[in-house]
Amino acid sequence: MEKKHRELLKKLVPSLKDVPSDSDYWLKRSEKALGKSTHDREVYPVLDPNKGEGLRLYDLEGNEYIDVTAGVAVKALGTRNPDLVAFEKEISHVTEEYSGQDFDYINQTVLSERLTDITPNSKEKEKQCFFTTSGARAIENAVKSAMDTTRKHRFVGFRPAFHGRTGLALTLTASKAAHREYFPAAFPVVRAPYAYCYRCPYNLKPEDCEQKAYCVEQIYDMVSMEGTDIAGIVFESICGEGGIIVPPKSFAKGLRKLADDLDAVLIADEIQAGLGRSGKWWAYEHAGIEVDTVCAAKALGAGWPMGVTIGDKPMFTADGRNSETFSAEPRMALLSLFVLHYIEKHNLIENAEKMGAYMLKRLNEMKEKFKCVGDARGLGLMLGIEIVEDKKSKKRDPEKRDAVLKNAVQKQRLLILPSGKNTLRLLPPLTITMEEAEDACNRLEKALEETSV
Ligand SMILES: Cc1ncc(COP(=O)(O)O)c(C=O)c1O
Repeated sequence: MEKKHRELLKKLVPSLKDVPSDSDYWLKRSEKALGKSTHDREVYPVLDPNKGEGLRLYDLEGNEYIDVTAGVAVKALGTRNPDLVAFEKEISHVTEEYSGQDFDYINQTVLSERLTDITPNSKEKEKQCFFTTSGARAIENAVKSAMDTTRKHRFVGFRPAFHGRTGLALTLTASKAAHREYFPAAFPVVRAPYAYCYRCPYNLKPEDCEQKAYCVEQIYDMVSMEGTDIAGIVFESICGEGGIIVPPKSFAKGLRKLADDLDAVLIADEIQAGLGRSGKWWAYEHAGIEVDTVCAAKALGAGWPMGVTIGDKPMFTADGRNSETFSAEPRMALLSLFVLHYIEKHNLIENAEKMGAYMLKRLNEMKEKFKCVGDARGLGLMLGIEIVEDKKSKKRDPEKRDAVLKNAVQKQRLLILPSGKNTLRLLPPLTITMEEAEDACNRLEKALEETSV
């Protein structure tokens, strides 16, 4: 960590006498200072905030890591992308805040138009945007918009599903009991199994559902018993937190029809999978459908808090039905416009498709080689492997997954995340090169080798 940065901290906090470059020291101090969250201090080091570029990150001790987390899909352009850093300096004269839902300014309007331009829409109704600061809040606003415009409040949601941890979003989340226990639901949800073909809840094979997804057919039956008054259907186009599950195309197609039949709003959660990561702007596009509402965040802010709900106009029926202090602030909106421009200019969507295909091939080879890799799957740069006791029983092996994760981070210096009960997920920046993709896969393979005795 740079001396300059240490001095800065000491200047701002005069009682801070020493800032040692010692991960263990800061891990202990953080544990005391910070509320319990998702930190896994047994696995991850303290990262150096001054060093790192692209996929290369460093811990306080100066060890170099290859990063396939991209800050949980936030840093699509890589860490401290030099062009982005230069752009941030270039726009330092632009006002940061104006309360975008009370005042109008050009940047926000242009960003909204740009986002609706990349969102396929052949309907008569035009699309518009409602900006916010996080993924969960983008979902909140989609849910409120659906309730407001349909005057209904029952939703269809999935298991597993992750849509965030605030009230309305948490009501739809179902990927770990710890997220939900003792927190009340805010509205009724008809909860259906996600199209998890590797573990099909109906014991079918993917080819059985090529034309029609049986799990969607079942929802007709569910709503006929629980209530057909559905305001919206909320689905992750690729299930991220629940285990990197790529549903068959018939799933999204079936949901489109279900939404039409129920006169409900079809809401795609693209917070992790969206903005080019899947090899298209929006992952649901792979199924050849259009949705009514898209929720995005993470990559949209170039590392800063930013979220958006893109929906049919009018998203709210009256003034003041929804508003918040922060929106796409003048500087934030420019950063988001930069992200969209950079993705296009550098063909990052094509890169995601190409690099993703290569990495998936490597993951499939690992599946052949290691008994504990039950499944390898992904679309574009949203990839995962599922760790099992053996391929035949498919029994989940969370302990082995945790051991591979620990080895990958601490021995191979591969920054990688878990997902679901027994999956490892790879969400590298969209800028990843072939050399980096190879390096990351080699490190993961080595971690599997060293833990698969
Ligand atoms: C698919 C999905 N939806 C919603 C969220 C919530 O986003 P945030 O953490 O910005 O509230 C996440 C976060 O990981 C996510 O992956």
